[in-house]
Amino acid sequence: MKSWMGAAVLLGLWAVQAQNAPVAPFPKNYTKGLVLYGMGDRSDGKSRDFYASSAAIDAARRGQELPVGSMLVLETFRAKEAQGGGFLKDSKGFLVRDRPEHELHVMLKVAPESALSKAWVFGAYDPSTGQPQAGTNPLSDCLFCHTEALGTDMLFSFKELKAFAQSGQLQRIDCPLPERQPCPPPRTE
Ligand code: HEC
Repeated sequence: MKSWMGAAVLLGLWAVQAQNAPVAPFPKNYTKGLVLYGMGDRSDGKSRDFYASSAAIDAARRGQELPVGSMLVLETFRAKEAQGGGFLKDSKGFLVRDRPEHELHVMLKVAPESALSKAWVFGAYDPSTGQPQAGTNPLSDCLFCHTEALGTDMLFSFKELKAFAQSGQLQRIDCPLPERQPCPPPRTE
């Protein structure tokens, strides 16, 4: 993407966010009200649950643009450490979870899409209290990185969301890189 286009996209998004709710709200009862479509382990011992609202899943199944009001949620857990280093894995090679990281990332679609503006707002919460996560600015911290996934409606796991929508099978969204680094190969369609 040309850099001026990236800037136009960012400006468009911020304009939308200034008009509407600037932050995605804390989704109460997200484990029941949303649908678990994927789980993902990373090399730094973080293991995550991926949730989407049923309207988002229905649209993905039909191959349509995700509607305004779609919500995506990512919850992070920390794995048990293995003796002698590394992390404990189960018989299938997946991380054994130890405890919550108190980190819930939320995306909410807020305005009609246009060619340059995929309008999402973001939020970061402690899921045990519903309080905003300290030290996180949902505007600057989240949007910048998710712009890399502009081609898939700002979602990194769009392909897996679609695969879940079509098959009903929980998707693995594992990545050998630590932290939030976008994982190659790109998970586009
Ligand atoms: C440095 C890049 C980066 C930053 C910063 C980042 N994310 Fe993400 N996010 C990702 C990646 C990559 C994934 C795919 C999941 C994975 O690979 O762990 C993801 C997944 C998600 C998902 C699941 C839907 C999807 O896109 O697959 C949500 C919801 C989400 N992030 C919200 C947030 C929020 C809220 C913030 C800010 C508090 C944030 N993210 C900050 C890279 C980032």
